[in-house]
Order: sequence, then C-alpha cells, then structure tokens
Amino acid sequence: CGIVGYLGHRPALDVVLQGLRRLEYRGYDSAGIALLNGSDSLAVERSAGALSNLEERLAASEREHFAGSGGMGHTRWATHGAPNDRNAHPHRDHSGRVAVVHNGIIENFAALRAELEADGVELSSDTDSEIVAHLIARAYEAGETAGDLPATLGRIADRLTGAFTLVVTHAAEPERIVAARRSSPLVVGVGEGETFLASDVAAFIEHTRDAVELGQDQVVTITREGYRVTDFAGAEVETKPFTVDWDLSAAEKGGHDYFMLKEIEEQPEALANTLRGHFSDGVVLDEQRLSEQDLRDIGKVFVVACGTAYHAGLLAKYAIEHWCRIPVEVELASEFRYRDPVLGRDTLVVAISQSGETADTLEAVRHARTQHARVLAISNTNGSQIPRESDAVLYTHAGPEIGVAATKTFLAQIAANYLVGLALAQARGTKYAEELEREFEELAAMPEAVRSALSTVGKTRELAARFSESKAVLFLGRHVGYPVALEGALKLKELAYMHAEGFAAGELKHGPIALIEEGLPVVVNMPSNKGSSQLHAKLVSNIREIQARGAHTIVIAEEGDDAVRPFADELIEVPAVPTLLQPLVSAVPLQVLAAEVARNRGYDVDKPRNLAKSVTVE
Ligand code: G6P
Repeated sequence: CGIVGYLGHRPALDVVLQGLRRLEYRGYDSAGIALLNGSDSLAVERSAGALSNLEERLAASEREHFAGSGGMGHTRWATHGAPNDRNAHPHRDHSGRVAVVHNGIIENFAALRAELEADGVELSSDTDSEIVAHLIARAYEAGETAGDLPATLGRIADRLTGAFTLVVTHAAEPERIVAARRSSPLVVGVGEGETFLASDVAAFIEHTRDAVELGQDQVVTITREGYRVTDFAGAEVETKPFTVDWDLSAAEKGGHDYFMLKEIEEQPEALANTLRGHFSDGVVLDEQRLSEQDLRDIGKVFVVACGTAYHAGLLAKYAIEHWCRIPVEVELASEFRYRDPVLGRDTLVVAISQSGETADTLEAVRHARTQHARVLAISNTNGSQIPRESDAVLYTHAGPEIGVAATKTFLAQIAANYLVGLALAQARGTKYAEELEREFEELAAMPEAVRSALSTVGKTRELAARFSESKAVLFLGRHVGYPVALEGALKLKELAYMHAEGFAAGELKHGPIALIEEGLPVVVNMPSNKGSSQLHAKLVSNIREIQARGAHTIVIAEEGDDAVRPFADELIEVPAVPTLLQPLVSAVPLQVLAAEVARNRGYDVDKPRNLAKSVTVE
C-alpha cells in the first residue's frame, strides 16, 4: 500500500493526491483521503479501484469541504477484505474524529476485534486496519495517554503484532499528524514550513529532497515546522536524515507511453550507476560490517529473493560458483525459512530486493540471522529495512522504478550479484587482482552493450503486435539463458495476462514438448556461438525438435550468429558479449515483448491487475 501525510502551507488535498499518484505503483485496489479541514470531524472520501475513481468522486463534491492544509491519503493493495469502498482506507472510529491509514498486516487483529466487540464497538469494514481507529479513539479519550496523540499511538502500536505503517489524524489535533512503523516503510520529508510522511520519497520529491528514514518500532509526530521521533514508549530517539539523490524527472514519464518503456531505456544508465564507485582495486560495498576473515570463512552461499529479483538471484549462482568455487543455492524467499535450511556462521545469505521491504525476503533475512548466518543485502532503496538488518549492503543505483514490473532494477541486480561474486573471489583468493580487474572491465562495458541492445525495441514492438492474440508463449534457454527464459515468461504473465512458461531447453524433451502445437510461439535464448559452441549446437537441435512439431520460433541470438539463422522464424539480434553477461542484453527484447503485447491487448503496462510493486505482507 502507499501512504502519504502532509502538514504545511499548501492545500493538502492537492499535495496528498499528487503524492498518491506517485505511489500508485504500490497498490491500486482502492484509494482514500482524510483532511483536517478545521471542523469538528475530518473530511473523508474513499473509493474502490484506481486513484482516478477517487478523483472523480472528489471532483463531484464540494471543494470547500476538502479545504485545509493538513491530511493524509492511501492507495491500497488488498490483504484483509475485498477491494471495495467499505474496505478502502482511511478507516474511522464512530465519532468520525479519528482516521487511520495502514500498510501491512495486523496479525493479532482477531483478538483485538473481539475485545472491541465485547465492549460494544461495531466494526464497519472487513479490514484488520479499522480496529486501530477505534483503539486510538478510546485511548485518546480516557486513561493514561488521554489527550496525548503520540503517546496514544505508541501505546496502541505496542499492542499490535505483525507489520505495519500507521498514520493517524485526529480532528482535535489540527496541528499535528502522527505515524508509527514496524517492518513496513515510512519516511519523513522535511520542507520549508511543511512536513511530509510517505511510504516512499517519490511522494514528496517535487517539494523536498531532505528526508528522514524511520527505524523499527518508532513513532513520529509531524508539525508544519518539523518532526519528532520517539520509540513506542515515548523516549526520544536519534534519527538518520539523508538527501535523496534523484529528482522529480526520474519519477515522471518524460514523453514515454508508459513508465516501463522509459525504465527499459534507462537500463544502460542504471547499470553504469550501479557499477560506479563499486570497484577500485577490488570490490567496494556500500556498507560492510563483515571482516575480511568473515568473508574468507564463507563456505556456502544462499541467495534468497522473490519474483524478478529471484531470477536475478538464479544468475548469481552461475557467476559465484564459477569464480569462487563455493556452492550456491538459490531459493524463493517465501520458501526459505519454512524448510529449516542448514545455516551457520560460514553461510552467506545474499538477499536481493529492489524495494528492500518485501516481507518474504525480510523474514528470510531474519531467519538467517537467528541461525548466525551472515547476510548481504542487494537493494535499490537506501536505508530500507532489509539493508538495515543485514551485515553488508550493496546498493543498485538504478533510480526509482515506477512500473510495477521490474526492468532496470533486474539488470542492476544482475550486475550487483556479479560484484558480490567478485568480492568473494577476492576475499577467498580464487582470482588474482588482474583477473578481477578484467572481469570488472567486462562488466563496465555492459552499459554500452545494453544501449545497443535497445536498438531491438522497434523490431520487438512489431513482433509483439503480431503475437498479441496468442493463447500461450513458451520461453527456452540453457545455462544463463534459462533464468532469462523464466524472467521472459514472468513478464508476459504479469503484464499481458498470457499463459507463459520458461523451460530449460534440455528439459523440454522430458515433458513440456507435449505442449508444442502448430503455430505456438516459442522464444529461444541462444547462447553465444563463440563462447559456448557446445551449448549452442545443443540449442540448435532443440529448436529443430520444436520446429518439426510446428512451433513458430522467435530466436534471440548474438549478432553474426549465422548458424541459427536458418532455424529462426523470427530473429532478434543482440550484441555479442561474454557468456555470463549475456542475460543483460537478452533480457531487453523480452521486457519489450511483454510490455508491448500487454499494450496491444489494451492493458495498463505500468499497473498490471492484482499486483503491487512492493509487497509488505507474507
Ligand atoms: C513484487 C513485484 C515483483 C518483484 C517482487 C520482489 O511481487 O510485483 O515485480 O519482483 O515483488 O520485489 P523486491 O522489491 O523484493 O525486489
């Protein structure tokens, strides 16, 4: 979910709606706002569906009612309760004076609801969030924390289990807004005579780049003049201010049809920024709380991640095992801790998460730490929870990614994985300094190679137009081409809602080949003809097997690969690069294919149905 809070000198309605627009990638099942309009109650409007539905409702209502320079808003990705009006946030107590927006899941909500119901409170939604409004209203009314909004919130937050960001407004407190967080994101934006709260800096980047990240189990109170942070018990804590290193243009489409296309085109820059500063006489991490000895002692690596980051993780295995001779297992973060993996001090868990806040990955990290494993985080979000809880951090400097389907952060994660591989090789002495340098130089040449891979966009768009009515598409690859095939299929599923599967090309004959029928499009990722000629020959055989059974082959091969040409019904050529780096160029046409098929089918490329960019629930 996306959360915005504002107290300042501008009309809060405009600031909050604009902030929500920038956070819509976090969920678009419903949206709502609550404004401090100076009256005895709050001005609240909510609507199921995208933010535009809420805006329509607001346009039809009295603007006067929504005046005021303080308020908050929410865009929802549904967990408890259907995505309808009734379950949309903000939720209020029965007096209508207290409103709450929430991101996360309150795990003990059944017990708290029972407590409220036993006291005669009737709930008006199916959410776990509404109970907080009632609990706050009651604790503000009477008892130890009466009349003290921050203390009230701290006290209630302390009673909750699970993950949450909560923002609370009270009609009796027009000069402050309070918020609390545990395991879900919340940042403060500090402007001149105005202060912001948001799940992500994108919400206020056009007003200020000065931000403060909140820590675990903290309460923040914002006023027009500033902010104050305490723990749940009310003791003041130190904060970590930072300056956002990108500006508004990074969060706008800049003439592109959709964000995803812009982000695909930003990939050379995202890669270059990720590599920059991370190598100088060896790999340089952003945060390093592990000693050289710790790294030398690593005997096993686990990579944990979800979705696209998991596919980047699969690629880490090829590089790390090859360079460092350490066994690497790659696991979906949501599966990791539940099967009791064998972990210890000599295990390095590499957690990859663009957002740095994915609950599945965060819990995997926490589990690893309880088992004394070392954790290295790869993330695109400065100061987010996963990096905070890790022993070492490598940031991908891909800039903000708004499209829900990951593109530039995928490429940046692959590069970051390779840097981690080089760091381990360096610590363990499995590569000499000159070899490390050579590998890094090959990596450093990739932004240029990806730039030329972008010349495939036009041809891929044409292809997408022809295949957009297909029932299904298969993706094949071998070696590093296999995770790319999985990613190609995932992109098509999530964006175009088309059935798509990725397979290891060699495995096809053991079952999936039964799916091949006349005209079925099959996308094949060819390995290099020079780098891995054995693999190349095997893949050509696989193509012949499926062509013989009627498949329509769309082949992605390196420039000058004449051997595959006769077997390609469609050929997309990408630059020739070293084998391990090939995913960085071959992923590009697959991203474009998925986005353009989706567009041809009339879907919102940036906001695919049922998804959210960062999922802070398990
Ligand atoms: C969500 C997104 C995916 C993303 C995954 C992991 O499910 O829809 O696109 O790959 O989370 O996100 P993370 O922020 O941990 O990389």
